Amino acid sequence: MPRPEILVARYVLPELLTRLQEHFDVDANQEDRLLDRRELCARLKGKAGVFITSNERFDAELIGCCTDLAVVSTMAVGYNNIDVMACTEHGILVTNTPDVLTESTADFGFGLMMAAARRITESERFLRAGEWTHWTYSLMNGQDIHGKTLGILGMGRIGQAIARRGALGFGMKVIYHNRNPLPADIADPLGARWVDKSTLMKQADHLIVVVPYSAAVHHIIGADELALMKPTATLTNIARGGVVDDAALAEALKQRRIAAAALDVYEGEPKVNAALLDVPNIVLTPHIASATGDTRRAMANLAADNLIAALTGGTPPTPVNPEVLAAAV
Ligand code: DGY
Repeated sequence: MPRPEILVARYVLPELLTRLQEHFDVDANQEDRLLDRRELCARLKGKAGVFITSNERFDAELIGCCTDLAVVSTMAVGYNNIDVMACTEHGILVTNTPDVLTESTADFGFGLMMAAARRITESERFLRAGEWTHWTYSLMNGQDIHGKTLGILGMGRIGQAIARRGALGFGMKVIYHNRNPLPADIADPLGARWVDKSTLMKQADHLIVVVPYSAAVHHIIGADELALMKPTATLTNIARGGVVDDAALAEALKQRRIAAAALDVYEGEPKVNAALLDVPNIVLTPHIASATGDTRRAMANLAADNLIAALTGGTPPTPVNPEVLAAAV
């Protein structure tokens, strides 16, 4: 019986490729460059599975190129780059990589928040530019973290991991906004309190955005929401570009409507709104919240587990649209 063919659309560790090659005939793009749509379309023909990342847009048009595709495995927890509904309609399973990146991503989000509040990267730029001449009382005064109010927009796994860091490590008061309040056994040990969105904006000293992207949350933080925040507040976005209105944020920072911000994700990334590059009170990183060697390896292996299970009669550990599996039984 011929082995299933798969496309690995992005560079993966050689050990992972070897693992996949034990099960499949693998067409691998080991150049670590984004395949353009034409190339992707051509290389998807005849493939039963595809391994992608959050960079490849997998929409209905691309599905049209797939004659035999059964599974799209993304090495990411977020899957807003995939038209899941269209995949489901075509009987294509979508899988992602939740859990394995939760703690690393929470570490990074918390670190970004601290860097913004304590002006760490701004201070480093100042020092490197040779502008440090003497110690002064107010040199790079920032905002405290400990004992302050941590606001979390999107209290899923990563939001809860950030809440743990804030409440248990830094004595922060935690408020959050989610579609639904958390069960008491999760919220109570953290002292986490559900509030409506405008209360969150008004009361948070440090707001972290972790809500998954969907059209419903596009620009959920724009000029009106930023206007509600304290002038001493910080905002950190590790969710997805488009959740925060980047232009409105740049303006709020320029006007010192809020004290500082930190972004790991951008609208239209890897392009970055030029206005954000012009303001000093912002920390900017290139979508690396889950980027540690251990976590990236775990993500890649989970993406491979999903592909292998889906195409060899097993049960994929983390399906996004499990109804496709149910329909196949
Ligand atoms: C994720 O896993 O969704 C990260 O943002 C990397 O794309």
